[in-house]
Amino acid sequence: CGIFGYAGFRIAAPVLVEGLKRLEYRGYDSFGIATLAEKISIYKKAGKVSAVSNLPDSLQGTLGISHTRWATHGIPSDINAHPHLDCNEEIAVVHNGIIENYAGLKRDLIERGHIFRSETDTEVIAHLIEEAYSDDLLHAVKSVLPLLTGSYAILVISAGEERIIAARNQSPLVLGIGDGEIFAASDITPLLEYTSRVIYLDDGDIADIRPGEYTIYNGDSPIEKTISEITWTQDTVMKSGFPHFMLKEIFEQPDVIHHAIHSITEETLPQSLLNANSIMVVGCGSSYHAGMIFRYLLESACGIPVRLELGSEYKYSAVPFNDVIIGVSQSGETADTLAAIKKGICNNVKTVAVTNVLNSSITRSAHDTLLMHAGPEISVASSKSFIAQVGVLMQVINLLAGGTCTEALSHARQAIEQILITDLSKAVDLCSNAEHLFYVGRGVFYPVMMEGALKMKEISYIHAEAYAAGELKHGPFALLSPQTPVIAVCVPGTAYEVMLGNLKEMKSRGTPLIALGIQDDIDLNDIADILIPVPEAHPWIQVLTTTVLLQLLAYHTADSLGREIDMPRNLAKSVTVE
Ligand code: G6P
Repeated sequence: CGIFGYAGFRIAAPVLVEGLKRLEYRGYDSFGIATLAEKISIYKKAGKVSAVSNLPDSLQGTLGISHTRWATHGIPSDINAHPHLDCNEEIAVVHNGIIENYAGLKRDLIERGHIFRSETDTEVIAHLIEEAYSDDLLHAVKSVLPLLTGSYAILVISAGEERIIAARNQSPLVLGIGDGEIFAASDITPLLEYTSRVIYLDDGDIADIRPGEYTIYNGDSPIEKTISEITWTQDTVMKSGFPHFMLKEIFEQPDVIHHAIHSITEETLPQSLLNANSIMVVGCGSSYHAGMIFRYLLESACGIPVRLELGSEYKYSAVPFNDVIIGVSQSGETADTLAAIKKGICNNVKTVAVTNVLNSSITRSAHDTLLMHAGPEISVASSKSFIAQVGVLMQVINLLAGGTCTEALSHARQAIEQILITDLSKAVDLCSNAEHLFYVGRGVFYPVMMEGALKMKEISYIHAEAYAAGELKHGPFALLSPQTPVIAVCVPGTAYEVMLGNLKEMKSRGTPLIALGIQDDIDLNDIADILIPVPEAHPWIQVLTTTVLLQLLAYHTADSLGREIDMPRNLAKSVTVE
């Protein structure tokens, strides 16, 4: 979810709507706004904020709060959309996170006569503040927070007081400091058009925001916090002529890989990695796939054993890990990855964050941070941030291996640039008519295919399953038919012969085959129905080029099916709940 608040001199409602549009990638099943004039006015609806053309006239005033939702408790509906109100409609709350003890709190509040309108966990906060409130919202919020267990970034307003109270615990919250106006948001994207001066709140911080002024508390006394300058500019969050953010971000990858690789040097490499006898990598979604590529490449380049864990599963692992943990997270806010880093810290393990977002929660938890420098990624399905993660991790391996792949990596930018114009139309036709797709690869190309399949299912909604090529015969072969195209990487290297054999086995089960391989590979041309050419290059470079080709295949397939590419159904870019 994303939250956004404004206290200043502009009419708040249009500022809030524009801000929510920037935050929409964090969740987009419903949205809502509350503004304050004589009284609190609310407008909230199921659906995307980007579909709003007219706002009701009732939304008056120069102060307000807003929310774009990714449902956790309660279906997406007008009623479950935030803001949530107390019984008297004098307190309004927006919330990102989960109040874990809400059920008990709600029972008690109902017993005390409160009437609930929604199924959300958030609504309890409004009712608790109602009980605690006399004439000072800051005081009321401060007294309610200790009752809440779980994660939250909240913004609260009350009728009759021209202020927003903001509080944070384990969910991101940043203040934007303008001239005569203050903003509060889940991340910096809605702030870029107004200010470059921001304050990142920490867990336990409470901000009292008034038009043009703010005071931050942690405990009873006000605290001073550093104002940071942000370097991202507004044009980085515009489509710049591309039909979708995803395509724009795919096309940024030549520069992104270059910056990612060059951002890591021997001087910036954390000591913990230089000394590591073994490394654990943890991540979710695409970041997990980047971690898996790291495992294959590091183990073969340096012989350092790597343990790989899903962020959501590491907490169930009873065997501690006591060398170095790398948490890979584009947003730096994924709750499960963050929890894994924190678990490592509790066990006295050195931790390193690989992330795209400076000052994100993971950078503030981990001992060291390697920044990817990919710029803001708006499309929910990641592309450039994945390439940047892989670039950073490849450079780490390269440095640990004494620079043996520096020459190879110097070709990364150009290699990606070249394949961006590959004609994929035949493969797109085949995929867009399929209901199921198998993605297969061996060795380091197995996680490449996992990422390719994830892209395809995320944005085209076609069921795409990735397998290690050798595993297909242990069950999934039963599903192969002329209706189940197989997509495979088969490039010269250690796995080439055996891969070719696997593909022949699949072909004899009647499956159409899309192969990513060398253009004039006669054997592969013989069995592939469609060959997508991969330039001959160092295997690390082929990891990058095949990844980009599969992104483009997913993108064009989804586009030909008319899907909502940048905001696929049911997903959110940044998942800040476990
Ligand atoms: C969400 C996104 C994925 C992303 C994953 C991990 O599920 O939709 O694209 O890979 O979170 O996000 P992170 O920010 O931790 O890399």
